[in-house]
Amino acid sequence: MVKNEELMEKIVSLCKRRGFIYQGSEIYGGLAGMWDYGPLGLELKDNIKNIWWNRFVRGRNDMYRFDAAILMNQKTWEASGHAAGFADPLVECKKCQHRFRLDQLEDPKKCPDCGGSFGEVRQFNMMFKTHVGAVEDATSISYLRPETAQGMFVNFKNIMDSFHPNLPFGMAQIGKAFRNEIAPRDFLFRSREFEQMEIEYFIKPPKDASDLGWQRHFDHLKDEMKAFMADIGLDSNKVHELEVSDGERAHYSKRTVDFEFDFPFGKKELYGLAYRTDFDLKKHSEFSKVDLSYYDEETKERFIPHVIEPSFGLDRTVLAILSDAYTEDELGGEKRIYLKLSPAIAPYKVAVFPLLKNKPQLVEKAKEIFKMIKKEIPAATFDDNGNIGKRYRRQDEIGTPYCVTVDFETIEKGSGVTVRDRDSGKQERIAESDLINYIKIAN
Ligand code: GAP
Repeated sequence: MVKNEELMEKIVSLCKRRGFIYQGSEIYGGLAGMWDYGPLGLELKDNIKNIWWNRFVRGRNDMYRFDAAILMNQKTWEASGHAAGFADPLVECKKCQHRFRLDQLEDPKKCPDCGGSFGEVRQFNMMFKTHVGAVEDATSISYLRPETAQGMFVNFKNIMDSFHPNLPFGMAQIGKAFRNEIAPRDFLFRSREFEQMEIEYFIKPPKDASDLGWQRHFDHLKDEMKAFMADIGLDSNKVHELEVSDGERAHYSKRTVDFEFDFPFGKKELYGLAYRTDFDLKKHSEFSKVDLSYYDEETKERFIPHVIEPSFGLDRTVLAILSDAYTEDELGGEKRIYLKLSPAIAPYKVAVFPLLKNKPQLVEKAKEIFKMIKKEIPAATFDDNGNIGKRYRRQDEIGTPYCVTVDFETIEKGSGVTVRDRDSGKQERIAESDLINYIKIAN
């Protein structure tokens, strides 16, 4: 077992060493709260995104994919409440001038860095401000969006007009969000630029206070969120549901359930599910003066739909996956590190090697087999660097579930290749004609 304090350091180091994730602007000393994804991190992230699209959009008939612009008319953020209220309480130490988020301090009266006292609490708006166009005045202000959600609310009418869907239906989007966090920390957990995967699921409003029809949709989406976590291989024992109490909920929400995850630094929020009622559509209707109501052909009634919002942080998902998958053990008397990734999200599903690099017959045959596999399983890689033991270790470290080795028996006896299982290290001999099926079924 790796100790929790060490685990984060080990994950960050593996991510850099093996091309998953790097510190943003690293050669200039970095930029706090920014992370850059390398080739393997991108593969991992794309696999997660695809599983999400499959479960929440492609696998159903009531969801519309969306991709709104990051910069939006500043009125969006007035309507949503972000311009006035998307703020965290900030305190500054009078002695060392270090700044902290008040609600994250163990002792709200004493600076954790130097023991000094704090000045007045200020509300710090977390939206990044910019100007659109050549003139920098109040009318040209815009913000990098702090959530993808608003891009969907302001396009609700466009989807209605283009597709005429009946309620209930949803809009789904994956995209960047930006928050000028006072204290970015814990690697990908709290960063200033991150990706969200969000759904706005529009439903009929309740007839009266006793109408709890929305609960059915809420529970269904909650189950789907759990199913998604299982799809990507997250250990369900590390996921906990938290019913967010009245005082703790965001201003727009009537019910919120957070999914928390046992990260190495403690149990923290991974995803949220909120019943946002008609708050957003009503506000955008009011501020834009555009009618965002829905006409129900069946009941001949016109109303503003209510909305349930499952919200997923993609980078937090990557961190949860990595901290869950990071494993150290001993294999054949040697210590090793491996990522126990579900094959569904592993950057490579299979790696192909010639047993020896300096035997042209082996290399040629291995390349031929690699080409055959790659056609059917594009997430395949070829490696002939170093000795075979080192190649296994390299693939273990990036979570490749299977390694295929071409040896002398392959070419001399035609007796197939060896396939090594990442977790057990066990090898099996498989006929060339069965190889693709074997890997596909195992994956
Ligand atoms: N539209 C609702 C919304 O944005 P949120 O709880 O503020 O709600 C949703 O954010 C999710 O976005 C969080 O559950 C988390 O996964 C992710 N998230 C929020 N702030 C983040 C940050 N600073 N860094 C990384 N992920 C973050």
